[in-house]
Amino acid sequence: MNLWRRLSGRNRTLALTGAGVLVAGGLVTLPVTAAQAATQCSVTYTTSDWPGGFTGSVTIRNIGDALSSWNLGFTFPNSSQRVVNGWSARWSQNGQNVTAQNESWNGSVASGATLSLGFNGSWSGSNPKPTQFTLNGTVCNGGTPPTSTPPTSTPPTSTPPTSTPPTSTPPTSTPPTTPPPGQKVDNPYVGVKGYVNPEWKAKAESVAGGNRVSNNPTAVWLDRIAAINGTPDSSSNGAMGVRDHLDEALAQGAGYIQFVIYNLPGRDCAALASNGELGPNELPKYKAEYIDPIAAIQGDAKYRNLRIINIIEIDSLPNLVTNTSGNAGGTVMCDTVKANGAYVNGVGYALAKLGALGNVYNYVDAAHHGWIGWDSNFGPVADQLKAAAVASGSTVRNVHGFIVNTANYSALKEPYVKVTDSVNGQTVRQSKWIDWNQYVDELSFAQAFRQKLVSVGFESNIGMLIDTSRNGWGGVARPTGPGPMTSVDAYVNGGRVDRRIHAGNWCNQAGAGLGERPRANPEPGIDAYVWVKPPGESDGSSKEIPNNEGKGFDRMCDPTYTGNARNGNSMSGALPDAPISGAWFPAQFQQLMQNAYPALS
Ligand code: BGC
Repeated sequence: MNLWRRLSGRNRTLALTGAGVLVAGGLVTLPVTAAQAATQCSVTYTTSDWPGGFTGSVTIRNIGDALSSWNLGFTFPNSSQRVVNGWSARWSQNGQNVTAQNESWNGSVASGATLSLGFNGSWSGSNPKPTQFTLNGTVCNGGTPPTSTPPTSTPPTSTPPTSTPPTSTPPTSTPPTTPPPGQKVDNPYVGVKGYVNPEWKAKAESVAGGNRVSNNPTAVWLDRIAAINGTPDSSSNGAMGVRDHLDEALAQGAGYIQFVIYNLPGRDCAALASNGELGPNELPKYKAEYIDPIAAIQGDAKYRNLRIINIIEIDSLPNLVTNTSGNAGGTVMCDTVKANGAYVNGVGYALAKLGALGNVYNYVDAAHHGWIGWDSNFGPVADQLKAAAVASGSTVRNVHGFIVNTANYSALKEPYVKVTDSVNGQTVRQSKWIDWNQYVDELSFAQAFRQKLVSVGFESNIGMLIDTSRNGWGGVARPTGPGPMTSVDAYVNGGRVDRRIHAGNWCNQAGAGLGERPRANPEPGIDAYVWVKPPGESDGSSKEIPNNEGKGFDRMCDPTYTGNARNGNSMSGALPDAPISGAWFPAQFQQLMQNAYPALS
């Protein structure tokens, strides 16, 4: 389902040239000062707290000389305090030390001017305020303002992002489970329990040892119109429909529930295993018979205290960028749905309809590092996501965040391989495995792509999700240290924890394990690790299996397949004897538990 594609050398060169032109066009000329300017500042820091989380607001008053760039530093008194995501600055945290560096559009600060920035954070125990702040390394002690008249401030030459601090700040006095109607919390995963799908739980427990993980929340896939009311006769989803799941979530006392919206016209345009029921011209049917009924149910006041999370249309928008004509992996179906606007307008419609509901949170699929980690794909996919977010009457405000690695196998962290490493003076980026990608794991990719998405106009407080259902890569084959320094390939292949034959392989991967268990706020910018692909459900059949669900046979799921241009003509790495996509595949589930990382106890 998740397709990888790399650019030909020619396209890559073009993309780099394009980037050069953009940078030159956006250059801001700043006067070079001969002497070190005197910095002086005062800072006010306030928070509004709720159990486990808070919003921090920081106002900096520049009472020294004018600044052309700045960075604010402070130290959290407690080790539990973390910046989750922030706005109006680039936020980072190292241990308890926090740094906020200016954005390109607010680096210039006139003498006497004030700046407002903020962030959402998490805490446990208590949430005390930092006692000292520094600006460009100088302690802010609120000293006397300069006597000279401040220069009139020049407006920034680059346009600030349209987004301002989020208006969706959680209320101070109301617990996050019951935000006032229409008000969304910043991170819907924080402080509440996730819904456990009883149908998946039963399947997991049908395999020996499955009860060790069967209480984890997994997403409910609405992969056809019939799934809205339940599909007792399908091989993938069960008899429970959307209402049944929501009612059960209430009965469980769950705080959030996750659905996958997955039924676009001409679905899965670059592969066959997850082709769907709607033809490429059936956008009206998608809207009226799929999105509208889902929105009607999710909008029922009965469910207003549940945070309903929708994962929007896996793989679709990235396919429009990398798998259309002119690309090595181009398909006729991707050309068709690009030309007729089915994906862009379908996603825009889903976002607008579902995003309008006060307790509903949309996360749009944004592929994974092994697909769009190349410069040539990174920016264009961000632009494509933006185009869809403002289609069909939607605005970027309907996008709460993005998800990466859905149903894929890319490692969360590569502890022994960094893209910046080199061997004998050669960058590891030229290894066959990395192949000039800018990223080698999902966490670094997700954090960087988040910044990119904000820069193209998404809200500055968007959060990322990472599907860690099957990217654990533990077990005996997991390296315990870096590879040998004999060549870039030996180093990368010896040290990488992702044991796939090729990073473009995506179907029922042999050797994979369960990844990080679902949890909120694991890293800055990441709303949660989630299990969106329910572990143990197949990615596609290893040979042709007739079915009435529209599912095709994709040779990437055939273990004897020797590959194509999209996976470097490598073996598929797929497990044998797999059923059609979505159907229960116990042998795979067993293997996922065996190779879990962190390991199961
Ligand atoms: C399938 C869906 C299924 C989902 C979750 C997808 O690959 O196409 O039918 O619901 O996986 O297993």
